[in-house]
Amino acid sequence: MSLTFEWRGAFTNREVNELHAAAFETRVFSDDEWNWVQLTAERSLGWVVARDGDRLAGFVNVIWDGLVHAWIQDTMVDPRDHRRGVGTRLVAEAVSAARETGCEWMHVDFDDDLRSFYYDACGFRPTNAGLIALQ
Ligand SMILES: CC(C)(COP(=O)(O)OP(=O)(O)OC[C@H]1O[C@@H](n2cnc3c(N)ncnc32)[C@H](O)[C@@H]1OP(=O)(O)O)[C@@H](O)C(=O)NCCC(=O)NCCS
Repeated sequence: MSLTFEWRGAFTNREVNELHAAAFETRVFSDDEWNWVQLTAERSLGWVVARDGDRLAGFVNVIWDGLVHAWIQDTMVDPRDHRRGVGTRLVAEAVSAARETGCEWMHVDFDDDLRSFYYDACGFRPTNAGLIALQ
């Protein structure tokens, strides 16, 4: 099957919750617990849907400040599709769409083991950032 990538493409909560569980090794959250369709529609700049045929192969959420800053959140690729370039394309589509919207900066944070993915494959450069665990 050929891969397709769509900015603000259609998806169901079930699809993304199953993808999230497979990618992050969590349980499958219910639509009531994590309503991706509603949350992204109300709060995100956009999102990118990757499909292999009809099957959801990857997803990334792009949150923003409403003006110049956008953030990559929850880049996830089905483990069956790892190392096919899906993650890189998801991020590239998100960067391109945010640029077209007029955003000036794309942010991301990640664990050490993904430095090669975000720096080398996706083109981010290192910067200082901070984090506080709230719960
Ligand atoms: C991280 C993730 C999105 C990468 O998706 P992917 O489609 O496999 O990535 P790509 O095929 O585009 O990888 C491009 C390059 O990035 C690097 N890379 C990708 N995944 C990597 C990993 N897990 N560890 C180290 N480097 C990695 C490699 O250099 C790779 O090139 P190569 O395959 O020629 O070696 C995917 O592994 C995933 O969904 N992980 C679980 C969820 C997660 O941790 N998301 C990130 C939250 S910040």
